[in-house]
Amino acid sequence: MSVRVAVLASGRGSNLQSIIDHLAGLGDASAAEIVLVASNRASAPALDRARSAGIPAEAFDSSDDGSALVNLLRHHRIDLVVLAGYMKRVPSSVVREYHGRIVNVHPGLLPEFGGPGMYGAKVHDAVIAAGVSTTGVTVHLVDDEYDHGPVVAQWRVPVRESETAEQLAARVLEVEHLLYPRVVEMIAALNDRKFFADF
Ligand code: GRF
Repeated sequence: MSVRVAVLASGRGSNLQSIIDHLAGLGDASAAEIVLVASNRASAPALDRARSAGIPAEAFDSSDDGSALVNLLRHHRIDLVVLAGYMKRVPSSVVREYHGRIVNVHPGLLPEFGGPGMYGAKVHDAVIAAGVSTTGVTVHLVDDEYDHGPVVAQWRVPVRESETAEQLAARVLEVEHLLYPRVVEMIAALNDRKFFADF
């Protein structure tokens, strides 16, 4: 039986699209099925991507204590929650109920360049400003703190000399699109075999 996945996204949804495409390519061999795409923004382009792929897409009220989201996830019998550009903190009640079953992708090598306010272009600006030679992509389990839970996978990306933050962002995003769908599939496969991470 497939692992029932919900993807939460607030924006353009390019990571969502990469997961949709990867799972579609695997067909019946995939251990995961996206059964819901949900957003805190009714106008999020990610919701249109879901609808175009025939996946139920819903906006929910993210201003409460997490009840609306928990009810939505329960209603769709979700096993695994995949954050893909979800710009809100996941409320504690949701983290409790889906403990160890929420993953996020971050466009940097956590624990560096993460935490509150460190998202999107800000991550790449900070990487360039720090003059480091390596950045990357992190997939991690979600806990109560921003960008904090156990790391599941990382992929390093070299920072090129005199590269702009925009150029770096594009190359890191390309890696996200390769890494995240495969990690989601791997987590689902491990879950199927009862090996899913417990932290
Ligand atoms: C990605 O860079 C992801 O790492 C971060 O937010 C961005 C979302 O982009 N969490 P998209 O909406 O998937 O295109």
